[in-house]
Amino acid sequence: MKASNKPKKSLGEYYSALQLRTDRWTNLRIATEQLTQTLTEKRRLDAERKIRELIEVLRPIELYWAFPGHDTFERLEVLLEEGRVEALANIVRNICRALMSNSYRRNPHHHDLDELIEGSPDDESNESRPKELPYFEVLFVDNFTPIQEANLRRTMASMRRPEDPFVYEPVFVPSLTDALIAVMFNHNVQTVVVRNGLRLESDQTLEILHRYMSRLEEDALQDVEPKEYGPELCRLIAKLRPELDVFLFTDQSVEEIAGANLGNCRRVFYNQEDHLELHLNILRGVSDRFEAPFFTALTEYARKPTGVFHAMPISRGKSITRSHWIKDMGEFYGMNIFLAETSATSGGLDSLLEPHGPIKKAQEKAARAFGAKQTFFSTNGTSTCNKIVVQAIVRPGDIVLVDRDCHKSHHYGMVLAGAQVVYLDSYPLNDYSMYGAVPMREIKHRLLELKAAGKLDRVRMLLLTNCTFDGVVYNVERVMEECLAIKPDLVFLWDEAWFAFARFGPAYRRRTGMHCAALLRERFKSPEYRAAYAKYAEKMADADDETLLKTRLMPDPDKVRVRVYACQSTHKTLTSLRQGSMIHVHDQDFKDEVEQAFHEAYMTHTSTSPNYQIIASLDIGRRQVELEGFEFIQRQVEQAMSLRKAINHHPLISKYFHVLTVAEMIPAEYRKSGIKSYWDPEHGWSDIAEAWSEDEFVLDATRVTLSVSGSGWDGDTFKNQILMDKHGIQINKTSRNTVLFMTNIGTTRSSIAYLIEVLVKIARELDERLDDASAVEKKIFERKVKALREDLPPLPDFSYFHDAFRLSAGNGTPEGDIRSAFFLAYDEGKCEYIPIEGNAIEKEIATGRKLVSTTFVIPYPPGFPILVPGQVISQEIIAFMRALDVTEIHGYRPELGLRIFTETALAALEAKPVIQALQ
Ligand SMILES: Cc1ncc(COP(=O)(O)O)c(C=O)c1O
Repeated sequence: MKASNKPKKSLGEYYSALQLRTDRWTNLRIATEQLTQTLTEKRRLDAERKIRELIEVLRPIELYWAFPGHDTFERLEVLLEEGRVEALANIVRNICRALMSNSYRRNPHHHDLDELIEGSPDDESNESRPKELPYFEVLFVDNFTPIQEANLRRTMASMRRPEDPFVYEPVFVPSLTDALIAVMFNHNVQTVVVRNGLRLESDQTLEILHRYMSRLEEDALQDVEPKEYGPELCRLIAKLRPELDVFLFTDQSVEEIAGANLGNCRRVFYNQEDHLELHLNILRGVSDRFEAPFFTALTEYARKPTGVFHAMPISRGKSITRSHWIKDMGEFYGMNIFLAETSATSGGLDSLLEPHGPIKKAQEKAARAFGAKQTFFSTNGTSTCNKIVVQAIVRPGDIVLVDRDCHKSHHYGMVLAGAQVVYLDSYPLNDYSMYGAVPMREIKHRLLELKAAGKLDRVRMLLLTNCTFDGVVYNVERVMEECLAIKPDLVFLWDEAWFAFARFGPAYRRRTGMHCAALLRERFKSPEYRAAYAKYAEKMADADDETLLKTRLMPDPDKVRVRVYACQSTHKTLTSLRQGSMIHVHDQDFKDEVEQAFHEAYMTHTSTSPNYQIIASLDIGRRQVELEGFEFIQRQVEQAMSLRKAINHHPLISKYFHVLTVAEMIPAEYRKSGIKSYWDPEHGWSDIAEAWSEDEFVLDATRVTLSVSGSGWDGDTFKNQILMDKHGIQINKTSRNTVLFMTNIGTTRSSIAYLIEVLVKIARELDERLDDASAVEKKIFERKVKALREDLPPLPDFSYFHDAFRLSAGNGTPEGDIRSAFFLAYDEGKCEYIPIEGNAIEKEIATGRKLVSTTFVIPYPPGFPILVPGQVISQEIIAFMRALDVTEIHGYRPELGLRIFTETALAALEAKPVIQALQ
């Protein structure tokens, strides 16, 4: 950007400007309190100098926030110069308290200097306080003079009416650059009013604030004409924070503006200063997001007296309040939940299976919030959503490419749909006994292979998990673009079970299915793309497969169809009751090709008694994420980053534990940006923008994988016996030598602090234990550590389907008929068992026999199937199973051995095509 040429001050030790702000206010409070004490002349002068410095650093930051506000802030220095140190300390203390507790949001007098000096704006006993209204800030962008600013502030304040549902405060910035910084920094901003006089550049010199501007925006702004600043700002805000409302004031003609792309601009004002209209529009915009139609319908229903003459004795709490034995249930849950329990679908409520009322509206709002064309709620988790989408899209015999370490719901979905499955191998992280994600090259290779075999017309879907359980994130845009270049109508199912929050973090959003679907749809329509494609097509006319594998492929704009589905467990990363999930759809051919099948699939898997509380919580979760998702995610990332930094650089913790870095989880070949770690002592925080826009894979920082091998405990022991039993810390996933800490939008600074405290304690105990250990005990410990670090069995790749389960066996492509194998195994007479101990397996293999699994075999951890029905058991898989020291292996009974098909059963199948054999 041509922004200010003034040198920018770097504050590399801070991950974000929010942290910097909190820290500086705390330091200012300490320094001003110090000044009220009796000090030597030198210490007094030092304290004053420190205060001046802190005010200097805070001044540019406070420009972007309504509280404490410009006037109050300027008074701080005046109080210092006047020597009113008690007043200064009071005001700073009260500001800090209000900022920490968020009480400034509740206090309409929060700009009142006297109140800030005298009392606490946090004073809970303030009886006269009016009803608490949700609070937000409105960003006005214009090059105001101080007088104009004061006038507008006064005018907007005079618009408030007692019946307003919300209260807001204005924030004023002069330029487009400042506006972009403000919307990325100040999470209180819900609305932006862009006015005529804005300029382009900022006077801001704090580098940490400019970090909010990605390189993309900087480039985009190079050649913008002054009269385009307003419209350009609208477009950029839509890219960065699509949930915000934007109003544009312009003196351009209606004709000029009418055809322009103004992002999500809600309304254009042609320069008339109708403040009441603006005020009402601002409130309406936020109301639109605040409104939760189904939650409201349910609360209203709960308030109405009704006589219940249908199922559900629990409805209205009747079976509980009249009970002698289960009253404690009523006391525990409270009455509201029972008042809101009903099987009725009328009386203001709605039916999830045929929604026409508030559920329909709630789903439409969710679609808008998550950037989908259609959204469907599910009360059975993403396990069910995945099966619905697979059944809706895949017909028996269709080829589906699936990452093998995907959630088991997909494998069962393939069985139900009768898909011909091509399993894709993710890159292995053998040192940590876990998988990464499927490389682009592997996906393209499989598609090209199918193309060469003339089977592309049968390829229907690509199914990938994004992000993976461990936080590896795909380059969704690139994956879809390159696959569509080979198979232009390929359907994508992104399992975003762990990624519902991603839409509301600007960097994360770029790697979500819905965002990329919209982006690609726009791109393929543009004349620029068409021109670029023409050149590309000419160059690639005779390209061989190796060239295709190495080149970034481009789809043909005349053939391409954008068909994307994303399933999200809202309950995993956002506010929702357990099992609350959503299916988001952006499929160009949905209405013509899929709607009916989708409906059938939805009916197949959805209960006819869906839980209303879950649906209401999905509706409310959507409201929350639209209004404060950005803030919560920013804070979550911040907490996770500080956890990473604290663990890896704590002298005691880092002796035994270590958070895996980006470089340890993503091999260099997939990191074009060269980023190795989010933080290192030499360079401070890395700029992740480049990695997130370019790299094949990136790491979701909110998932923190801790290597525990240095402690001598394996992942499972550390999880159960140390973290859970001794310290009450719950985690979900482990590998042989790692445990995964997941942060979420509810993670607080104190929970992070507690975790660090616990790790310090564990490390100290280990230190003491080793200090007291005998030479032999030390040796045993070292051996354990070595075994956990080095003796890790390599993760086995998918072997192959037995010919009996391949409809077109022998022609080189790997798809297999998992469904036939699955159902064949229902016949116990066609199955037998073989122990994995001893050499029975080797003996059988030596005779040339192919051992074929009848079931899914899924060890926990790592939790992915090492065998699926119909798969040939390889020596590598057996070696892996033998080396595993986990006790939980689904699909395997140690007392019996591996369940395999008998030779006779396979021979019978090979003699006839599989489908006939099953009849
Ligand atoms: C990648 C993935 N997909 C789907 C699911 C299933 O989600 P749910 O628990 O909402 O049914 C999980 C559960 O852990 C998962 O990890």
